[in-house]
Amino acid sequence: MTTDWRPRAAALADKLRASGKLTTPEWHSALSQTPRHVFVPEYYRQDRGAEWIAVRGDNPAQREKWLDAMYDNTVLVTALADNDNGGQLVRSSSTQPGLMVRMLEALEVRDGNTVLEIGAGTGYNAALLSQRLGDGCVYSVDIEPDLVDLARERLAEAGHHPTVVARDGADGFPEHAPFDRLIATCSVPAIPAAWVRQVRPGGKILADIKTGVSAGSLVLLTRYDDDAAVGRFDPVYAAFMALRPSAGVPAVPTRVDRNRDAARQRTSQLNPTTPWDNLLTWFLASFTLGPDVAAAGYTGPDDNDTNEQPAPAAVWITTPDGSWTEISLRDHDGEHRVHEGGPRNLWTLIEQAHRDWTDHGQPDWDRLGLTVTRDEQRVWLDEPSGPTLGTLPTG
Ligand SMILES: C[S@@+](CC[C@H](N)C(=O)[O-])C[C@H]1O[C@@H](n2cnc3c(N)ncnc32)[C@H](O)[C@@H]1O
Repeated sequence: MTTDWRPRAAALADKLRASGKLTTPEWHSALSQTPRHVFVPEYYRQDRGAEWIAVRGDNPAQREKWLDAMYDNTVLVTALADNDNGGQLVRSSSTQPGLMVRMLEALEVRDGNTVLEIGAGTGYNAALLSQRLGDGCVYSVDIEPDLVDLARERLAEAGHHPTVVARDGADGFPEHAPFDRLIATCSVPAIPAAWVRQVRPGGKILADIKTGVSAGSLVLLTRYDDDAAVGRFDPVYAAFMALRPSAGVPAVPTRVDRNRDAARQRTSQLNPTTPWDNLLTWFLASFTLGPDVAAAGYTGPDDNDTNEQPAPAAVWITTPDGSWTEISLRDHDGEHRVHEGGPRNLWTLIEQAHRDWTDHGQPDWDRLGLTVTRDEQRVWLDEPSGPTLGTLPTG
């Protein structure tokens, strides 16, 4: 039995307050009084060979390391799924506490509000909500039945009994609608219509929009009449795992072979690391790259790289239609060699998105907003009546 968690939980809340990630006494109190270790008896970390290693609280040799991780502001991988290639993919995780409270504060939760959480995971966030609002106000769903059973047990161990059920969160929880607030801790390519319908007019929805790998961020919407909702993106980027249609193994992007011999070649002045270094351009590009998940990564080092720690040679991007591009990280007088193959020139689309972003004055996330109606989901600049930057994929 862990008895020494209270000072650690209080220290975490103090640290988050000092760093400005936590500003309200209500959430400071909820965080200080919620035992995260009850919800995460073990977590997984990747070793150098990318193998997942379990760190368990009931292993005396690991206990101190485990307990430190519980009350640190870190995301912890809590459930894995085996894929067909003998590897393992992340099925669930416990979000960084700092991000969780920042989102709960952004959601403007008030006493007596009913809240629906999509993505119960470990149950820790449902515990924070129950601590703050009381069990009767909190509803949480997850697609994974085994995780829901564990979350319910652990919530009870921590003294909470919110309503936690296994179901597809894309459908919301109509039996208990309308809610005052809806928070999604998994990402969606567009806001499901059920979420807007199930939030009371004047109520709020906080969700992570991701139209591709890392393309998008958190948006806070207010529900209006006629199944409409409008709001802005959060100033600080965040990323959650994607909502999936069924329990089990998360989807992986379609594999695309990159045949350099048949590639079209040219050079580009755009920074090859744009998908990671310029997330706004990557988001704008995702509107033309397409609604399906684009994959991106680094190629291994060149054969002739003799450095002790060889660096990646290029960035690659693929889309499921078979299009691919590879952009050399090596800079020749400001130019990077580009190879493109398949039906579309992907790097050209990203260059165009970068020009659009520049022409709009290089906006940050807080200048972007989203209007959701029954007919479309429009991303705009500065004001709902401002220029359209793209339309989210619905239906
Ligand atoms: C980042 S974790 C949530 C963390 C959680 N809020 C906590 O406090 O531990 C994301 C969760 O979304 C869940 N999820 C994925 N697809 C879903 C769906 N269609 N409906 C509901 N939950 C889903 C995953 O199973 C995973 O547990």
